[in-house]
Parts: sequence; structure tokens; C-alpha cells
Amino acid sequence: MNDFALFLGRFHPLMVHLPVGMLMLAVVIEWLGRREKYAALAASGPLILLLGALSALVSAALGLLLAQGGDYDTDLLAFHQNLGIAVAVLSLLLYIVRRNEAWMQGWAKRLYLPASGLMVLLLIVAGHQGGSLTHGEDYLLQYAPSPVKRLAGLEETPDTEAVVDMQTADVYAALVEPILKKSCVSCHNKGKRKGGLRMDTREELLKGGENGLILVAGNSEKSELFRRLNLPMDDEKHMPPDGKKPLSEAQVSLIGWWIGIGAPMDKKLSELEIPADIQAIIAKMGVGSAAKKASLLDSLKVAPPDAAAIEKLKSRKAQARPLSEGSSLLQITLSRDSLPFGDADMALLKPLTEQIVWLDLRMGAVNDFSGLAALTHLNRLTLAQTTFSDKDMVHLAGLSQLEYLNLYGTEVSDEGIRQLAGLKNLKNLYLWQTKVTEAGIAALKQSLPGLAITMGEEMKEVEPVATPGK
Ligand code: HEC
Repeated sequence: MNDFALFLGRFHPLMVHLPVGMLMLAVVIEWLGRREKYAALAASGPLILLLGALSALVSAALGLLLAQGGDYDTDLLAFHQNLGIAVAVLSLLLYIVRRNEAWMQGWAKRLYLPASGLMVLLLIVAGHQGGSLTHGEDYLLQYAPSPVKRLAGLEETPDTEAVVDMQTADVYAALVEPILKKSCVSCHNKGKRKGGLRMDTREELLKGGENGLILVAGNSEKSELFRRLNLPMDDEKHMPPDGKKPLSEAQVSLIGWWIGIGAPMDKKLSELEIPADIQAIIAKMGVGSAAKKASLLDSLKVAPPDAAAIEKLKSRKAQARPLSEGSSLLQITLSRDSLPFGDADMALLKPLTEQIVWLDLRMGAVNDFSGLAALTHLNRLTLAQTTFSDKDMVHLAGLSQLEYLNLYGTEVSDEGIRQLAGLKNLKNLYLWQTKVTEAGIAALKQSLPGLAITMGEEMKEVEPVATPGK
């Protein structure tokens, strides 16, 4: 019986088009029929209204059967259901009134058309709610022009180009959520809850479906979500089901890895040890600052660095390494046990100004930072535990490529970081143990809303020393 009820219920979305068309036509005919020119139409009004009302009744009944399936969001469903029933009842009442000539000449004369209008209004709202239940609430206006969306109070779709940064992105938002959004959420959302499961928010995902939890942290094999992805394609339990594009092997591995490390919802990518195969997948997806940066810096064509200049740096125990194998771009780091790298040594960077993109002067003995201004390709700069202070900020003003700046343990204050406002590419700023205050940060955020600022100790873990591609 249950199956048969659902079988019938599935005709509801087909059937509802009849009352929508007929009831609207009935009202139009009623309205036109009152004019002399179209008076001949008036006689057909009641018949069309009756057919519309009957089809509305049948639709409502089928809808109730469909609702038994329980696949739908209950709030939205209840609203749609009540409206649908109201339309059926109201259209039937209208028909009864319309057939009674005495009433139509008397009390119903003025009421009839407004009541018909109300019915049409309910019909439109009910129809829209039904569409939202089937296609999702943002279906109708998904491709609407922006002003229309704003009018409807819909958020603009966020810029998908937004860079996901390895240091700040969390693993769920950066890697897992996009896959679920693309391939799963269309059937597992607020309006459509297939298998009793919603995957449109973290909380709902963790609640699981009608058969319980779908994630077993740390054990992908035992996780229903993962198991379903790995079933043979012809298994009816395979997700996404037949007819939908299956996940790629890389996407499945990514989800398996994520569950394996405990299915964390708010761990930063930078806090995790990412195995090489997963790293390769991430790099291919174009997620992560390393990948993004590589492309940003790839377009940078510079001559190979002067070997003699590199030798001189090395004699001062500064490391100068290519950013990746075969690249002309350089990463300069002071070795911890080195001779003090001072103002005279800064001159050694001059022949390499084109090539240096990463520079780490941590704990260096530099006092004159004016040489930094020439390093216009600089992408990452660490000045941690140096004498760098507010007055030296002017030297950074022209470093438009700078994405990462570490000022940990310097004398820099609010006054100083205010001068960073023009560095539109800056994404990460580390300020642990500086004189910067919350107010200073708030002020800078106004100019650079996308900037991630780290004040606390966690910066110690995200020190950039690795060379991408190694
Ligand atoms: C075309 C619609 C559709 C899409 C897309 C879809 N599912 Fe499903 N899903 C269903 C249906 C229908 C059920 C219930 C029947 C069943 O259990 O197979 C279900 C059930 C599930 C269940 C079992 C829930 C429970 O507790 O029984 C899981 C887990 C699941 N889906 C995961 C996914 C994942 C992961 C994706 C994306 C890769 C996905 N689904 C995409 C339709 C869909």
C-alpha cells in the first residue's frame, strides 16, 4: 500500500499544472465575460471553474500521498500543503456560489471577483512553494539579474574565484564542502531530504540520515558516506545515484583522507600533515596558496640569478634556493647559526632584486631596511625578531606583490600597520608580540577586509620554510 501510495503521489508534480492553468483561465473568463464584447464566454466560466476545482482536489490528494515519502522539509511542506488545500476548497466554494444566480445578483456580486483574485494569489504562492520543494529555494532566481536578487533579499553568490589560502583555510570548507555542494546537496538539503539526510550545513551533515550517522571519525571504511561513494556504479545505493555524474577518483580519495584524519570541521589545512598523494590532488584543484602563488609568480619572467651573487650570500651563511626546481625565483633565508646578517649584507641582495620573492630575515642584525623597497617582486617577507619598526614601514609601501608578512616580535604598532593599507594583495599578517592593539587591527581590516591577521602563538606552527614542490 505504501509503495502504491507513493507511486500515485509522484503524479502530483504532473497533475498540479491542470488546476494552475484551469483556475487562472476560469478567473480570466469570468472577468472578460462581464464585458459586452466577450459576453459569449461567460457561459463557459462555471464549467472551467468546476474542472479546475476538481483537478485541484485531486492534486491535493496526490500531494498528501507524496508527502508520506517524508523526503521534504517539513516547514516548507506544511505551508505548501495548507495553501494547496486552501486553493482546492476556495475554488470549490467559488463554483458553488457562481452557480447560484440569486447569490450572484445579491451578496456575492461584489465579493466574487476579489475572492477569485485571492484564489489566484494563493495558487501562485502554493505553486512557488511547490517549486521550491522540488528544486530548492534558490532555483527560480539563481540566474536572475543582481537587482532582482537584491530585491528578493537573496545574497549575491560569493565570488568563486576567492583564493583559498593554505594558511587560513579550513580543511572542510576548502576541500570537502565544495564536493558535497556540487554533487550531493541537490538531493540532501532543507527542502529535499533524501534518505532523511541533509548535507547543506556542517551541523546537518553530522546528524546523519534516517539510518543514523554517516561519518565515523577516523574510519572511512565504516562511514556510510564513504562506503556509498565506493559501491559499484550499478549498485542502487551508490551515491550520487544513477544519472548523476559520479565523483572522480581524486574527490573520493580526498573525502576518504578527510574522514581518516577524523573528519575535522574546523581544522586549518596548515595544522595538518598532508600526505604527498593528497597534496598532489590539492595542488591540482588549485586550492592553496602554494598553487595560487606558483601561478601568480609563474607569469613573472626574470633572468636566471647571478651565480656569483648567490655564492656571496652563501658565504654569509644565508640560504638562497630556487623557489622550485629550475625556477629563477629565489627564496632567501638566514640560517639560525649564521654570522649576524647586518646592514652591509643587505647590499648582497641588490644583484638579485628581480629574483627574490621570498625573504626571511628572522633574527637578522639588520638596522637599515631601506633595501627592501627595491625588492618589488617580494611575495613573502619575514621580519620576525628584528629591529624593524614603524619608521621602516615606508620601505614596504611599494611591495604590491606581498601576500605574507610576518612581524612577530618587532616594535611595530598601530601607527605602523596603518601603512599596510595600500598592499591590496596582502593575505596573511602575523603580529604576535608586537605593540599592535585590537583597535589597530580593526582599522586595518577596514582597508583590507580579506586579510587574515594572527596575533597569537599559533603562528609558530605556520612558519614558512618549505619550498613548494618539494
Ligand atoms: C539525485 C539525488 C541524490 C543525489 C545527488 C545524492 N543522493 Fe544520497 N540519497 C538519495 C536518496 C534517494 C537516498 C535514499 C535512498 C538510499 O538510501 O539509497 C539517499 C541516501 C543517502 C545516504 C544514506 C542516508 C541514510 O541514513 O540512509 C547517504 C550517506 C547519501 N545518500 C550520501 C550521498 C552523497 C555523499 C552524495 C554526493 C556524492 C549524495 N548522496 C548525492 C539521493 C541522492
